[in-house]
Amino acid sequence: MSKTKLNLIAAACENMGIGANGTLPWRLKKEMAYFATMTTKVEDPKKVNAVIMGRVTWDSIPPKYRPLPNRINVVLTRNVNVVKEKVPEGVVVVPGLDEAIKYIEGRDDIEATWVIGGSSVYKAAIEHENCGKIYLTEIQKSFDCDTFFPKIDNQMFHMVNEDKIPDERQCEGDISYYFRVYKKL
Ligand SMILES: NC(=O)c1ccc[n+]([C@@H]2O[C@H](COP(=O)([O-])OP(=O)(O)OC[C@H]3O[C@@H](n4cnc5c(N)ncnc54)[C@H](OP(=O)(O)O)[C@@H]3O)[C@@H](O)[C@H]2O)c1
Repeated sequence: MSKTKLNLIAAACENMGIGANGTLPWRLKKEMAYFATMTTKVEDPKKVNAVIMGRVTWDSIPPKYRPLPNRINVVLTRNVNVVKEKVPEGVVVVPGLDEAIKYIEGRDDIEATWVIGGSSVYKAAIEHENCGKIYLTEIQKSFDCDTFFPKIDNQMFHMVNEDKIPDERQCEGDISYYFRVYKKL
């Protein structure tokens, strides 16, 4: 196993839905801020984090917010040459998760690696030997979704408490959720 640990981060509703019609089915400002902080913060100020995402998730980010700032954005696609033409300079486009890991390991300025979706990228990361933790926001409400988080095998992943991650219920408007962390055994 190479040294890069893959941290997954996702928000899912009661039926494990994560998306509908190419976008998020909810609008949770504080949850978005949590995502931004978690994926951006570094201990070593000389380093940055990488975010790995599928091409559809890249497309789902409004152009004015992408690439996600202060992070190395890595986009997975089977059409590398086509997608490379469309993304701004600095965005890394690769044909698979192993190529993404290889790219990250070829640099010495990347501190943490976050897998930010969608479905098949989460699945590939969960099944990957480098999978570390899943940071899952569990939304206590059901939404109509067409995209889902893969099943988390509770023999393989255990919920853990992590310093600085609040374990009490979070509320935004009429929606409540919990920040959970699952660690691969
Ligand atoms: N709630 C959340 O936390 C969260 C997080 C992320 C996304 N989302 C939502 O989820 C939806 C998008 O997710 P999605 O599952 O539909 O799509 P996605 O995983 O973002 O993108 C799928 C595309 O990524 C490329 N791809 C995926 N796995 C690959 C692999 N192993 N190797 C090479 N290329 C690979 C392929 O691109 P090509 O077709 O170009 O070959 C594939 O068509 C949106 O609704 C978005 O808002 C929600």
